[in-house]
Parts: sequence; structure tokens; C-alpha cells
Amino acid sequence: MRLDKFVCKSTNLSRVQAVEFIRAGHVVVNDITVLVESTQVHENNAITLNAQLLIPRAFRYLMIHKPANTICSNVDEAYPSLFGALDLERSDELHVAGRLDADTTGLVLATDDGRWSFDIIHPKNHCKKVYRVGLSKTIEQAQIIELTLRFTAGLQLQGEAQLTRPAQLKILSPKEVLLTISEGKFHQVKRMFASIGNRVVRLHREKIGEVALDVGLGAWRYLTAAEVESFKSKPQSTLSQEGQ
Ligand code: URA
Repeated sequence: MRLDKFVCKSTNLSRVQAVEFIRAGHVVVNDITVLVESTQVHENNAITLNAQLLIPRAFRYLMIHKPANTICSNVDEAYPSLFGALDLERSDELHVAGRLDADTTGLVLATDDGRWSFDIIHPKNHCKKVYRVGLSKTIEQAQIIELTLRFTAGLQLQGEAQLTRPAQLKILSPKEVLLTISEGKFHQVKRMFASIGNRVVRLHREKIGEVALDVGLGAWRYLTAAEVESFKSKPQSTLSQEGQ
């Protein structure tokens, strides 16, 4: 981690203030005064600020129920940041593990632990995500088997060289389905339904890995230790291995 980030994570200083202290020679790493804020340091290094040993705060891991018309970014753009309305300290230190579109609602995992989020979003880990999808066109009874098989076999998305990974489709009503996917291409769910001539009109993420959304719209909670660990222990099972 960068030295200025380490200082911020161990104090209440802003990034600008941390840089000022570093450049003024107040920060010592393993007995050496370091003047360059971008220097890479490790949590095990002995780092002091004005001779006080710095201990970084523990990483945070949380679930957020994202409302529509918010974005998974720390700064407001065309829509306000998801974090803006949350009663959450130092939300600028957090990032999300897997973005949702502005109009998508549901489960977002957020953390300040880059290694943890890397594992969740890394394509090789095939982390499962469950979406509740509202559709513009009716799925007829006679289409269900063929459609389910097509999603399992993989769909050809525009501009992609490879078919989508096996996905599980569960029809809830003629215009609502549950879709489980184990990859996260840009606008993936919307593009999957576009590829079969339908259109997503409502999209809501219910689950990532073993973690299911259980807080109200716009609310958040810390993940339990078991939930945090569930992403670390092993790559998430593929759909075919679970027989889904
Ligand atoms: N797929 C999409 O198309 N949009 C999302 O927000 C998430 C998955």
C-alpha cells in the first residue's frame, strides 16, 4: 500500500494532510525517514508519525442495498454516488466489488480491502450472482425448456468472442425470472436478454456467492466474519459442479 494511504488508514488525517506530514519528514518507516508519499509499504513495517507508532484500522466489509438512480462510484456523476446517502464514516476509503448499473437495484458488496474484492471480481473465480429480472416480453410456456437450455449452453453476446458461461434461468412468471451467472461482463444481464430478443425493464441483484441481501432499500450492514471468509476460502463453485 502507498505510504500516504497507510497514514490515512491509521489516523484521521486526510490524504492532503498525510502528504504534508510525509514531505516534511515526520514519517519514519523501519527507522528511515521517507519523504515520498507514493513509497510502497507493508502492514508489517514499523511506521511512525512524530514518533507515534501507526496501527492501521481493520478492513471493513459491508453489504449495501443499492437504490435505483445511484452509481457505484465514490463521486457523484450523472447520478449521485451510492455512498452519499449512507450514514457511514470515511466512505471515500471504500470501493465496491462488482458494480451495478445506475438503474439496477440490490446487493452491493463494499470494502477497503483490495485483495478481497479482487478475488470476488476476478473472472477465474466464477463467483455466482443471482439477479431478479423483469422483462418487457412474455416468456411463453412453450419456450421455457428451449430458453433454459440456451442459457445453460451459453449465449453469443454482441462484440464478445466467447459464449457466456453456463447460466441458470428460473422462470418466476411470464415476465419475471431469476438468473444465476458466474461472470460479470459489462451490462451482462441486459445483453443476455437482448441476445434472445427480449429486454430487461427491471434488474435487482439478490445474492453474491453465499451472501444474500437482507437489509432494506438504502440500508447497509457489516458482513459477518463467515460471510467475509466465504469469498476467501476457495474459488466459488461453478454452476455445473453444483448441478444447478
Ligand atoms: N448486468 C447488467 O446488465 N446490469 C447490471 O447492473 C448488472 C448486471
